Amino acid sequence: MNPIFYINGAFVPEQEARLSVNDIALLRGYGIFDFFKAVNGVPIFIEDHLDRFEASAAKMHLAIAESREQLREAILTLIKRNPAPLLGIKIVLTGGLSPDGYTPTTPNLLMIAKPFQFADANKPMKLMLVEHQRELADIKTTNYLLPIWLLPQMKAAKADDYLYHKDGYITESSRSNIFIIKDEQLITSNQGILFGITRKHILKMAAKHFEVIERPVSLEEALSTDEVFTTGSTKRVIGIGQIDNHLIGNGQTGKATKYLQTLFAEYEKMYL
Ligand SMILES: Cc1ncc(COP(=O)(O)O)c(C=O)c1O
Repeated sequence: MNPIFYINGAFVPEQEARLSVNDIALLRGYGIFDFFKAVNGVPIFIEDHLDRFEASAAKMHLAIAESREQLREAILTLIKRNPAPLLGIKIVLTGGLSPDGYTPTTPNLLMIAKPFQFADANKPMKLMLVEHQRELADIKTTNYLLPIWLLPQMKAAKADDYLYHKDGYITESSRSNIFIIKDEQLITSNQGILFGITRKHILKMAAKHFEVIERPVSLEEALSTDEVFTTGSTKRVIGIGQIDNHLIGNGQTGKATKYLQTLFAEYEKMYL
């Protein structure tokens, strides 16, 4: 099936969705986006993602011409035009065509829909430690320079992703948040991170079952804790079995993480 994308109000086949080479999203990497999934045609946590998209745009001094209602309508039409049981939807706002190649102007709005599959939730991930703090961490910018640049090193280390840390504290992974479980407490960083929508719902959902704490998490405690897991829209909840050469627990998905995986799958169904 030929994917249909959205660009500035028009629905067009993928090959016709084009932007000018003068857009500073291309020339300078200045743009924001959000990403979420639609399950059987239903966009999951869409209002949270639109809240974050609008907040990212405002923080980047980019004006969204479309109202919330128009954004929602465009997303629903995009989903209808790309029927698939599991669809990943990326909405992107660029810095716009810039005469001087530097100053943001009128943004371009794009929406891309592609079928995807969840990663195997039973397979724990291995993370590679990377000393790094994402720039403008609470904004979902299109800047993923370092994690993409490090891909060959990550593959050589046989890792699945990264664990960012700085000054002795962990923050997040390249595209997901990190939780540790220690003595029945669920702990996640609240500094220097992108506030994930999955993270938000895990915190809400888990509060009935665990003591839930948002605070800085040291690297030392992350390496020595009972369980570590990561959360994101395409991952949901995935256990971390290894960080560099340190095994977490016995290297398998922990018991509490498995419990949360089941709870979260059920929780998401409430939105369908
Ligand atoms: C840097 C970063 N942190 C965390 C997340 C997880 O966010 P969400 O749960 O909204 O997918 C993402 C998602 O892409 C991300 O890019």
